Amino acid sequence: MIVNSAAVIYFSPTGTTKKILYAIAEGMCIDSPKYIDLTLPNARISNASMINEDIAIIGVPVYEERIPKILYPFLASLKSNNKPVVIVAVYGNIGDGIVLNELKTITENSGFKVIAAGSFIGEHSFSTKEVPIAEGRPTQNDLREARNFGQMIRKRIETIDDLKEISLTIPPEKLPLIAKILPENSARMFTKTPYADMSICNGCGVCVKLCPMSAIHKDTLEIDENQCLRCFCCVKECRRKARKIIYKKKLFVSLVLTAKNKEEKKPKKYI
Ligand SMILES: Cc1cc2nc3c(=O)[nH]c(=O)nc-3n(C[C@H](O)[C@H](O)[C@H](O)COP(=O)(O)O)c2cc1C
Repeated sequence: MIVNSAAVIYFSPTGTTKKILYAIAEGMCIDSPKYIDLTLPNARISNASMINEDIAIIGVPVYEERIPKILYPFLASLKSNNKPVVIVAVYGNIGDGIVLNELKTITENSGFKVIAAGSFIGEHSFSTKEVPIAEGRPTQNDLREARNFGQMIRKRIETIDDLKEISLTIPPEKLPLIAKILPENSARMFTKTPYADMSICNGCGVCVKLCPMSAIHKDTLEIDENQCLRCFCCVKECRRKARKIIYKKKLFVSLVLTAKNKEEKKPKKYI
């Protein structure tokens, strides 16, 4: 099989999923892939059209051990005429949950054939200096791993004569108990919306432009509590550091996250 073009589709408020997907595409040596960035709301409004490129690479961050809820409609509307797809989960070193299995089901229902899947680690959205979680990831080594995964995919594709022969097995994943117990959007229970400290903010509006939910009021800079995903892209992108991550139950959250973050997880690759 020959692959000359690729659609690289991702949602990435704090940029780690994007970095991993770019590295995979680089490893696959695809000239000028078509990048479809689903991070801003406008990109998710219209239904996705047929993917006509030779291959798609689809990556999402893990939210509460699943695909972020807001992506389901767009992902379910993707269509493919039996094209190969690589599916990728990027998570904050706590757990990748059931995301690869969910992505496999959604993409296969859309007519794709999953030829490779991987989960990689990115700095956790809730990471702070006091409670660092997967700080600085993906590291150069993680990106090397992602490029290497891209090279493996390229080699694998060259051995495929007929996509019908391919049947990729991803080990069945289970939701951890805590993810089953906690209600949807539980991040809102543990963290506040990051308000702007107006003694530091210069009103540049970068947070308003980058918010994946358009949840920040352009004049008051206040955040709609119910819309905010707690992705903290507004905190991480603020050059003046006018917004901060504030835990609601600091001791509990930092203890749980620190305990789950003890072991530095490694990328998983299925091919
Ligand atoms: C609401 C929310 C829930 C999250 N849930 C998990 C999780 O269950 N497991 C985990 O390891 N990381 C979790 N994370 C962390 C992200 O998966 C991680 O930081 C990822 O690298 C972010 O991707 P991005 O930089 O492309 O936005 C969560 C982040 C957010 C905002």
